[in-house]
Amino acid sequence: MSFSHKILDWYSAHKRKLPWRETRDPYKIWLSEIILQQTRVAQGMPYYHRFLEAFPTVHELAHASEENVLKLWQGLGYYSRARNLHATAQIVVEQFKGEFPTTYEGLKFLKGVGDYTASAIASFCFDVPEPVVDGNVYRVLARYFGVDIPINSPAGIKYFKELAKEVMDTENIRDYNQGIMEFGAIQCAPKKPNCLLCPLNDGCVALKDNKVDSLPVKTNK
Ligand code: ADE
Repeated sequence: MSFSHKILDWYSAHKRKLPWRETRDPYKIWLSEIILQQTRVAQGMPYYHRFLEAFPTVHELAHASEENVLKLWQGLGYYSRARNLHATAQIVVEQFKGEFPTTYEGLKFLKGVGDYTASAIASFCFDVPEPVVDGNVYRVLARYFGVDIPINSPAGIKYFKELAKEVMDTENIRDYNQGIMEFGAIQCAPKKPNCLLCPLNDGCVALKDNKVDSLPVKTNK
């Protein structure tokens, strides 16, 4: 079985039910991804619900005062995320008539939406075949394919993005992208993953070469 089908199988058996997995609304997906950028799911969840209650659509968020947005953000830290969130909502409303762009390139135009977030919104909402590459994905790919190029080097960033594109499932990009991140978060954990029970252990290069604990590689620049 291919790597992507193993990920999809694992995901359908193990996925957590998370609110942003039940929607294709780009506003909600965008909000969840901005909140989760530097925040764990358990911590971010109440903020996600509070924001949607206060600002059910991008219009309410755009018309809110910055003070109110920052107040709701209190406790999450990295306040530039909240300011970007507010500014981007205003751009979506004023320049795009309240509709989020539907392409990867269009989404990257938005403030605070980088490569990862653009891929996430494009694939989760619009089935655009773009792979998400976050910390979980780096770890899964580095281990399974035995890649020791530093993930924080320009060469590594390029290499992993290309590898991610090669192995993604273009037919079911939404579940595949959620699945590989979930697999990294739960099964292919940073420390002491249980490789004995891993359904991908037969193809994993790091496991075969006894390198699970040393991959992925990071350089300290
Ligand atoms: N962390 C960042 N994005 C996520 C998502 N879509 N699902 C679960 N955890 C995440």
